[in-house]
Amino acid sequence: MNNKYNALINELEQLYQITPKHIDGNIMGSMTTWPHPVGVKAFLKFIHVNGNDPFTFHVVAECEEKLIREVGGLFNAKVGLHTSGGTESNILAVFAAMKTTGSNVVIAPSTVHRSIDKACELMNCKLIKITTHPLKPVDPKMIKDHAVIHKPSLVVITAGTTETGIVDPVEEVAELAEKHGFLLHVDAAYGGLLIPFLRKHGLINTELKMTRGVSSITVDMHKNGMAPIPSSLLFLRDEELREKNML
Ligand SMILES: Cc1ncc(COP(=O)(O)O)c(C=O)c1O
Repeated sequence: MNNKYNALINELEQLYQITPKHIDGNIMGSMTTWPHPVGVKAFLKFIHVNGNDPFTFHVVAECEEKLIREVGGLFNAKVGLHTSGGTESNILAVFAAMKTTGSNVVIAPSTVHRSIDKACELMNCKLIKITTHPLKPVDPKMIKDHAVIHKPSLVVITAGTTETGIVDPVEEVAELAEKHGFLLHVDAAYGGLLIPFLRKHGLINTELKMTRGVSSITVDMHKNGMAPIPSSLLFLRDEELREKNML
């Protein structure tokens, strides 16, 4: 027993030694950050807790509520949930949109993260992509033209694309969402915890907020929030969007 245990620990140690570490400065483009010591402590302390059982572990519901209130404050968002990552948040956003509208046409720039492709495939949606240069935000006029032709139930844009950090025009597309009656999901998995601060320091104009035209926003805590992996937040426009869809 002891020998097997030691052998396993040794094997893990060897794997750890050959695993890149943020602290060595060798990691670029993995999208994640070295977790904050308090995050690591919290993670280990509550490692036995089943987040899907808020009745036994009511601390989970309380912590989630606090997280939504405090991080949501950056985006004027009051409703949301904690998920296991940007992929899950995006899948749930597409799921909620499909269930709410009963329609399955989704429009997104070609720069959208592949989790949106996965979500659409899972939900049997028709995903129409607008060809977009990877170094440019999507042109709102293209969204408008596609919306008129295809009448989508959902448009997905990105605030901080994975490869190049491009921020799509959130405010302009939100206006179109109101005018043309589609839901708008903003995938800010990567940029969500950078954009409010870049704006505060005058480095970017985009205002990333849960304004009237925006129906959901993904923000990853394990990308620029220094949370241990996995940790993401999905903010929703209102309680109805959450409850109706059992999120
Ligand atoms: C813009 C964007 N959305 C979604 C995701 C998926 O996030 P996760 O890896 O946490 O599932 C990523 C990951 O890099 C991303 O950059």
